[in-house]
Amino acid sequence: MKDSQPSTIYLKDYQVPPYLIDKTELTFDLDETTTVVTSRLHMRRNPEFGLSTTPLVLDSGVDVKLIALAIDDYTLPEEEYRLSENQLIISATPDVFILTCETLIEPQNNTRLEGLYRSSSMFCTQCEAEGFRHITFYLDRPDVMSIFTTTIIGDESRYPVMLSNGNEIERGKTDEGKTFVVWHDPFPKPAYLFALVAGDLEVKNDVFVTQSNKEVKLQIFTESHNLDKVDYAMEALKRSMRWDETAYGREYDLDIFMIVAVDDFNMGAMENKGLNIFNSSCLLASPKTTTDDSYLRVEAIVAHEYFHNWSGNRVTCRDWFQLSLKEGFTVFRDQSFSADMHSETVKRVEDVSFLRTAQFAEDAGPMAHPVRPASFIEISNFYTLTVYEKGSEIVRMIHTLLGAEKFRAGSDLYFERHDGQAVTCDDFVSAMEDASGVDLTHFKRWYSQSGTPVIEVTDEFDAASGVYRLTMTQHTPETAAQPVTLPLHIPVKMGLLDPNGQEISAYFNGQESQEHVLHLTAESQVFEFTGVTTQPVPSLFRSFSAPIKLRYDYSSEDLLLLMSSDSDGFNRWSAAQQLAVNELTVLINQAIAKQALSIDSQLVKGFKNLLENKELDPAMVALILALPSQAYLSELAETIYPAAIKEARGFFKKLIAKELEEDFGRLYREHHLEGEYSPQAKDIAHRSLKNMALSYWLETDSELAHQTVKTQFESANNMTDQFAALSSAVHSQHEDAENMLASFYEQWQHEPLVVIKWLMLSANQEAADALSRVKGLMEHEAFDLKNPNKVRSVLGGFGQNVSGFHHEDGSGYAFLADQIIVLNKLNPQIASRLCTPLTRWKKLQPELGQKMKGQLERILKEDLSKDVYEVISKCLA
Ligand code: ARG
Ligand code: ZN
Repeated sequence: MKDSQPSTIYLKDYQVPPYLIDKTELTFDLDETTTVVTSRLHMRRNPEFGLSTTPLVLDSGVDVKLIALAIDDYTLPEEEYRLSENQLIISATPDVFILTCETLIEPQNNTRLEGLYRSSSMFCTQCEAEGFRHITFYLDRPDVMSIFTTTIIGDESRYPVMLSNGNEIERGKTDEGKTFVVWHDPFPKPAYLFALVAGDLEVKNDVFVTQSNKEVKLQIFTESHNLDKVDYAMEALKRSMRWDETAYGREYDLDIFMIVAVDDFNMGAMENKGLNIFNSSCLLASPKTTTDDSYLRVEAIVAHEYFHNWSGNRVTCRDWFQLSLKEGFTVFRDQSFSADMHSETVKRVEDVSFLRTAQFAEDAGPMAHPVRPASFIEISNFYTLTVYEKGSEIVRMIHTLLGAEKFRAGSDLYFERHDGQAVTCDDFVSAMEDASGVDLTHFKRWYSQSGTPVIEVTDEFDAASGVYRLTMTQHTPETAAQPVTLPLHIPVKMGLLDPNGQEISAYFNGQESQEHVLHLTAESQVFEFTGVTTQPVPSLFRSFSAPIKLRYDYSSEDLLLLMSSDSDGFNRWSAAQQLAVNELTVLINQAIAKQALSIDSQLVKGFKNLLENKELDPAMVALILALPSQAYLSELAETIYPAAIKEARGFFKKLIAKELEEDFGRLYREHHLEGEYSPQAKDIAHRSLKNMALSYWLETDSELAHQTVKTQFESANNMTDQFAALSSAVHSQHEDAENMLASFYEQWQHEPLVVIKWLMLSANQEAADALSRVKGLMEHEAFDLKNPNKVRSVLGGFGQNVSGFHHEDGSGYAFLADQIIVLNKLNPQIASRLCTPLTRWKKLQPELGQKMKGQLERILKEDLSKDVYEVISKCLA
């Protein structure tokens, strides 16, 4: 442990910056050993700050070496500034001046992948949130916005492509015969949006004509062997640009928009102004190497980063506590876009399923925080499901409360009012209120309170008077950082079904309708409906109108009714999930008690009906057939028994498979597509149902099923089908699984994006010797500890491996802890992410939980980065 622990930063301490930087001129002299960065910062004291004697404090990283420092033409001697581990302090400055600073950095030794670093043969950057300080001394905070001009000097034979934000304005040769290129970005921006790329890259060109008839040059850059995989991203980009014009009235603002794919990247992608940088796994796509899921992900992330041009860049965040201002809103925008491009219900189910599994778990664990956190130690730890996904749910609720038209008026006002500014979540809400006249004062508590609200609902029906009453009670559980919780403003979209599954038109507040939006604002409230003639089944929180946990005592018959008849597609899925959870819970408890598993399943009956209905969207049928995941069942459990959950799921899947064996065989044949691959929604739907059917069918003894999976694996013309066959074979412990895994690697070893899928599946494979297999993977030629995608695949995949990770002797936990300790030095952001499975220790069955805790204590004794320290110390608090 270090002698002094990293300090906590609080939102309540926010102050405007004492200095401003109107213009930033940067020169990079790129080199394989040392890169020289020269900055000329046009600075002045901020009149809003008041005090005119405050010293100038610039942020810096330990990896930046200062060579020379000058104010205007005066070179500062050493006694006139102070340099510490993360700051450069100059005690006296004029009111207006130019600060010139020469620094040395070593991108080739930058394994943190923050700031300027090398990825294969290229240079690239990642500056959000606080990466720019690893490039040079700066006011590295989002409310300091500056106009950037960037000169890049490099050897043209190695770096024929040299890019930065904005437009290229000049190009030439230096005296030493190197090439220089000058880029100018006319839009003021914070340093986190700065980007630079240099390398031997190929480009795909295209053009987009905006709604006001402006031509925008579009360019996607990759290494030459990947140029054949960018067409889909380019089309997705054009669809995003068009959609943002129609849905939000937002037009692109520069003459050029560039995207670059890099192999080594901590996150998914980054919205740098005019120069987005992507993890290649989120950009490249081709039928033979990319699954349907990945196609949809590429489209969504291209859209997400593009949409940031307005929600993030033109209007940015005042401070990092406001991160959800741009991320929550932009996720909401990309989700709406994907819903418009494909199926709204399918998209909603997928998003909610993810939220309920992963965000709910975060909200119940030691890292729980509000969508607008009140404090942090390391901001990188707050690029979370809460800030992104729950943040998006908040925006979605505002959309529900205002209605589409007023919401659009609100977003228009927000963009117009705050263009060019760095603002807060409160500013966003105010614009929504001002444009709509809707009071969101109480609603705003969603931003400051963490935890997932639990809504208990009871009902009573009086046949004589035709009155139906719903009583709703809300409670948000306390979280680590928040001892007291208060009621929230919760929109409840709902309807009522009669016993035949028909929608009931009932009166609420004098309004007759089949669907209502109730406002639950108090701790407990009664909602009264009149004109109801039979005992209804309530369909609550349609389309998941709020991120809550619903407790209503549905019978299995109620759930079967909702599953087959609800007009809300989301709730049909949700009812099936609930029924599956109920039955799985019985089985899990039997497994915990070491009893023989048995159940008279009602869900099977629901599935039988479902499979006979030919009207339904095959994608929805596939989603309904998907059993609640190990992770979701763990989230729901009071105490997690990983092996019991696994056993119950396995048993249940086999039971359903046997009961419906013929249906699954038939579905497989009916949904098998011939012909060329296309990632369009209709085809994706058929493939998803076919492959879901196959995964059940394989759980039976059918010889034909076992043959089919091998045939599909060998003859598929696309990765979706090939990988689905492989995964099903692996997860069903098919006798040929090992051979199939080996031949898959053989076939795809030269495609890194396929190799990461192989690594993930291999690490995930349940087996008695899972741990030694994972150790083998880390020795494999395909593995590289410096590549985040590979680390995520192997160690992330292992974290989901019940028999390996949760081995009763604790060896899985010790192994992950060892890797975290190594990565803590190499790449703190990645190390910190890998801690996630360890954050659940308090909920684990006690024997396992104690072993996990022991590993957390061992990690805490190390010399930790802020990133890892924050997570581990909060786990043990
Ligand atoms: N703004 C990027 C996105 O959401 C993510 C950047 C993540 N950076 C980080 N240091 N965690 O599109
Ligand atoms: Zn984002």
